[in-house]
Amino acid sequence: MTTLIQGGQVVSPSGAITADVLVDGETIAAVGAPGTLAGDETIDAAGKYVLPGGIDAHTHMEMPFGGTHSVDSFETGTIAAAWGGTTTIIDFAVQAKGTSLLSTLDKWHSKADGNCAIDYGFHMIVSDVNDATLKEMRSCVDGGVGSFKMFMAYPGVFYSTDGEILRAMQQAREIGATVMMHAENGIAIDELAAQAVAAGRTDPVEHSLTRPPELEGEATSRAIRLAQVTGSPLYIVHLSASQALAAVAEARDNGQNVFAETCPQYLYLSIEDMMKPDFEGAKFVASPPLREKSHQADLWRGLRTNDLSVVSTDHCPFCFKDQKELGRGDFRAIPNGMPGVEHRMDLLHQGVVAGEITLGRWVETCSTTPARMFGLYPRKGVIAAGSDADIVVYDPAATQTLSAATHHMNVDYSAYEGFSLTGKVHTVLSRGRVVVSPDGFHGNAGHGKFLSRELNQYLN
Ligand code: URP
Ligand code: ZN
Ligand code: ZN
Repeated sequence: MTTLIQGGQVVSPSGAITADVLVDGETIAAVGAPGTLAGDETIDAAGKYVLPGGIDAHTHMEMPFGGTHSVDSFETGTIAAAWGGTTTIIDFAVQAKGTSLLSTLDKWHSKADGNCAIDYGFHMIVSDVNDATLKEMRSCVDGGVGSFKMFMAYPGVFYSTDGEILRAMQQAREIGATVMMHAENGIAIDELAAQAVAAGRTDPVEHSLTRPPELEGEATSRAIRLAQVTGSPLYIVHLSASQALAAVAEARDNGQNVFAETCPQYLYLSIEDMMKPDFEGAKFVASPPLREKSHQADLWRGLRTNDLSVVSTDHCPFCFKDQKELGRGDFRAIPNGMPGVEHRMDLLHQGVVAGEITLGRWVETCSTTPARMFGLYPRKGVIAAGSDADIVVYDPAATQTLSAATHHMNVDYSAYEGFSLTGKVHTVLSRGRVVVSPDGFHGNAGHGKFLSRELNQYLN
């Protein structure tokens, strides 16, 4: 059975061309000049973009955090992702202290296996550095998990000391893996947070005020130095602050293997959202926190210059009711994380509409670069013969208003409530199967397969 996607603008990092795309089974059979290919069925893409499916390289489905867990399951989260034009997620397996990496990986496989509507891979969160953990990092790579997230924040939970980070980076260098870093100075932050609570400052906005951008900049610089000393590739996750971006840009100018992602919330939301009355600011508590609006122009520039090369969501949804509310009276008890997996492609398309990034850069930061960064290219991230037929037909002229009343994520609020956007997903194919069309969702949990990934394809 073949399907022809006809007459659309096929977008790649180098721009858009009018072409037809022939899908045969699970893969793309050919990309040809308009009118040169034929299929059993046809999808009319005239006036629309045809994109490689989005790759969200940073999600947390069913993540245990602060005595609760994020509310999207692998099923609900991947269905929501598909609705928004994302056809691959890379989620995080979380090593609890005292447990092994391989048992953690087994656990996450059993959570996801048979439950995902789109393809998925894993990174590994390392929170217990010891000889056994370091040895197991190699087995993780062999199992298709070649990226390891570490934390300079959350002392007593996920936090690693500089010495532990150094040891893990030495091992990463040895086995060709990439260390992903949550770069905030958690020791200093916890002190500031304790001082705020002692002084009676307990509202959600204090979460941002006690995590100043300088402490993200400092931790980012420190992570870069540790990576330089060890020779480890480094990928800074969820970069939010101008100070951190400056450190990344300097390292990249010096030729170091340092990469960074940002997230839509840092491009569109700000500390002002955290000041909303009636505790509503808690909806925007994530780490790093939302910043002053002045950081946003720098982040857009970073996306243009490739000092920020990936846009991920850090999707980690907690309901306002009963979960975010745990922190009434003490902002430190608000579970950290925000929903967003459904809206990344649309929000970044809005950056194209606003002239912040080009069409090609939209596709590059949301699909092609994440594929290369995390060893999925050319299976994913490109519309080319032989690649998986993960394809989004996107209507650039459609309009929509984001709302919890209409989104598909399993969470009781939208961080982007009332945002009016130009552009909307029309049709989504996941490995050749139409999973979203204007008629609705046609996929199913279990269609999504685990992706055993190669190593970072950008290393020099
Ligand atoms: O607040 C956040 N970002 N929660 C998810 C965990 C993490 O640090 O990425
Ligand atoms: Zn993090
Ligand atoms: Zn995260």
